[in-house]
Amino acid sequence: LALGSGAASAQQSVTAPRAPSPVGPRAFPTGFRWGCATAAYQIEGGAREDGRGASIWDVFSRTPGKVANGDTGDVACDSYHRYAEDIALLKALGVGHYRFSTSWSRIFPEGRGTLNRKGLDYYNRVVDGLLAAGITPHVTLFHWDLPAALPGGWQSRDTAKAFADYAGFMASQLSDRVDHFMTTNEFFCFTDLGYKVGSKAPGLKLPDAAVNQIRHHGILAHGLGVQAIRARAKRPVQVGLADNPSIYCPVIETPEHIAAARKATRVENAPFLTAVLEGRYLDSYLKKAGAAAPKVEAGDMAAIGSPVDFVGLNVYAPGWARAADDEHGYAIIPHNQASPHMASPWLYVGPETAYWAVRHTTDQWKPKAIYITENGCSSDDAMIDGRVDDADRVMYLRNYIGHLQRAAAEGLPIAGYFLWSLMDNFEWEDGYGKRFGLHWVDFATQARTPKLSAQWYRELIRRNALV
Ligand code: NOJ
Repeated sequence: LALGSGAASAQQSVTAPRAPSPVGPRAFPTGFRWGCATAAYQIEGGAREDGRGASIWDVFSRTPGKVANGDTGDVACDSYHRYAEDIALLKALGVGHYRFSTSWSRIFPEGRGTLNRKGLDYYNRVVDGLLAAGITPHVTLFHWDLPAALPGGWQSRDTAKAFADYAGFMASQLSDRVDHFMTTNEFFCFTDLGYKVGSKAPGLKLPDAAVNQIRHHGILAHGLGVQAIRARAKRPVQVGLADNPSIYCPVIETPEHIAAARKATRVENAPFLTAVLEGRYLDSYLKKAGAAAPKVEAGDMAAIGSPVDFVGLNVYAPGWARAADDEHGYAIIPHNQASPHMASPWLYVGPETAYWAVRHTTDQWKPKAIYITENGCSSDDAMIDGRVDDADRVMYLRNYIGHLQRAAAEGLPIAGYFLWSLMDNFEWEDGYGKRFGLHWVDFATQARTPKLSAQWYRELIRRNALV
């Protein structure tokens, strides 16, 4: 008893929690879920095998000039054949959870219609292998590899409906063993970066009105997907999404800057997460879009706002905001050339993001549960004498997870953390040049070697506390 109350007061003076802290200054709550994340196109390979249809990423990566070094996901980490080895890596890390995605065009090569049973069998083997290893599967249904056969891709409203059919089908097949489903991953990346900026598949540069409509189809796919999963799952399952809202950290932790940063987070994500969690578009977004605003059909917003069981946040670069005395009430502070970043030029370092992602999301929308569905970094790793001593990745992770610990200690509803990524993989338009893994992959031999960061993560999980 004496010990318990002493620990409680020590911990209060360190963390100054909003509510009594459930944990010590470095520990995570009992039962906190530690995991790793990957995505189908980035790791599977087997691009032409067993009846898989082409996705827009096959088309894009095989187009000269689109991906660094001419790399494609044709072979990737060959997880289509080596999944058992990858499950063994997860087991050795001690993670209890694995987030992976299913390839839509492996299941429905034409995007809809005829099922490719061999594709489904692959995911049944993965799920069964995970469960046998004591690892809980968390399935993402769309991580950017849209079936190439769907006319117009996300420009077409029908794609949202096709997604819901596929999502419902997957739930009907996997829900006897899987109880966590994510609909879509990172709206901004598969809409804006694919159809406006053109850096990702399908590599288009369309005008604003088209892009706003594409965004609408993306969030509609999520909403119809939620409904289809619930309708067709064989038992009640947890349904959510993984998104990467721009998270604005307050420049100084005063009430006025905190309120401004929270407002910035809500307003700047108006076409995506804000619409999903509020079931409507903000007036400021519609006003700014003007004639280019999306065409919304009856029932769309209700579907988009379908209640979710959890919100998944992918946390990487920070945003910074301060209070401002204008009609917006906030100002965004841009990164400058000296802002520290990791090997990917966009990956500015801001560990506070891990805290503010959870805090703003909770204060603004009060979701039942939040997961960090991705966090990690690229680094210029090198294998020297058989070792990869990625001390900078350990530094990065320790800091981000340290700020996440603050969220847990304050009693915010953070249920788990998925580290991106289990192993080096196909980093989209950067090809294999940017490594995000806890395991080094030798892409010539497919040998996987744990990096220093893997050892560190294992120790953190073992203690359920920062190390
Ligand atoms: C987010 C994406 O979901 C994932 O596919 C990507 O590899 C990581 N960020 C790193 O860029």
